[in-house]
Amino acid sequence: MKRIWKLVLAICVLTIGMASTAFAAGWTTGQGANSSRWWYDLGNGQYYGTPTSAVEWQWLDGNKDGIAECYAFDREGWMYAGTTTPDGYTVNGDGAWTVNGAVQTMAVTAGYGGTRAQAQQPGTAGKKVLTAYFSKTGTTKEAAEKIHSVAGGDLFEIRPAVAYPSGYQSTVDQARRELDQNARPAVASHVENMNDYDIILVGFPIWWHTTPMVVNTFLESYDLSGKTILPFCTSGGSGIEESMAGVRASVGNGTVGTGLTANSLTDEQIRSWLAENGL
Ligand SMILES: Cc1cc2nc3c(=O)[nH]c(=O)nc-3n(C[C@H](O)[C@H](O)[C@H](O)COP(=O)(O)O)c2cc1C
Repeated sequence: MKRIWKLVLAICVLTIGMASTAFAAGWTTGQGANSSRWWYDLGNGQYYGTPTSAVEWQWLDGNKDGIAECYAFDREGWMYAGTTTPDGYTVNGDGAWTVNGAVQTMAVTAGYGGTRAQAQQPGTAGKKVLTAYFSKTGTTKEAAEKIHSVAGGDLFEIRPAVAYPSGYQSTVDQARRELDQNARPAVASHVENMNDYDIILVGFPIWWHTTPMVVNTFLESYDLSGKTILPFCTSGGSGIEESMAGVRASVGNGTVGTGLTANSLTDEQIRSWLAENGL
């Protein structure tokens, strides 16, 4: 570990000396005799592995494919590889936790750098995500759940104070009236801790080529300054493009990213949409 400290010290000195140089956190090998050993640099003089514990586990997505593997670090910060960890788990030669030979994985935000990186890196990994959706017949709900399983964070259902009629045509008629009147139907549910979120993924069915008005009510209920809003929709064929202007008008000083038409979604599409928006 002395080597690591020397290295970390050298990095700190270099970083101070080149204050404008961006520092890349992530997997790093040791030097000399330790050149085949790995440690995970948190980029600010810290690393995974704690002196007080024989093992520290972290889910990490080093190749940024949105799938993390779980790694164990010793007291000095070295990754365990090809062994049984002191707490009794198997890690393969790459350091990934395995069960009966199968690498264990978890869907994460692409590039996820573990729990401590979240607190320290205000970049992609540290952002707190809310997936909020309105769904009348369940299609958008299903898309939202899928997106939430990939993006992580929290899931929230936007519920109108007065439920839409059960019949399709009555809903179509009511939706048309609301659109024509630029109505703001009341919402029954409220995100109490909206200030905690950096990214809001907002899902809705396309109604009359745009957002159901209750979604505009929802967006206009909050100060979204400094937040990024990423809209997604399901539809009978319409794309999200025609809804974007309405979303932009309802988010105040929030920033609207790229929208996603989420009919028949794959995890890969979700990941690339999130990546496109810096997540
Ligand atoms: C009132 C209403 C208006 C709709 N307008 C459109 C539309 O303009 N374009 C479209 O492709 N689909 C339209 N649809 C179909 C829905 O967008 C689609 O079925 C959606 O996936 C339903 O989502 P949900 O199950 O989450 O409510 C409309 C449906 C309703 C009820």
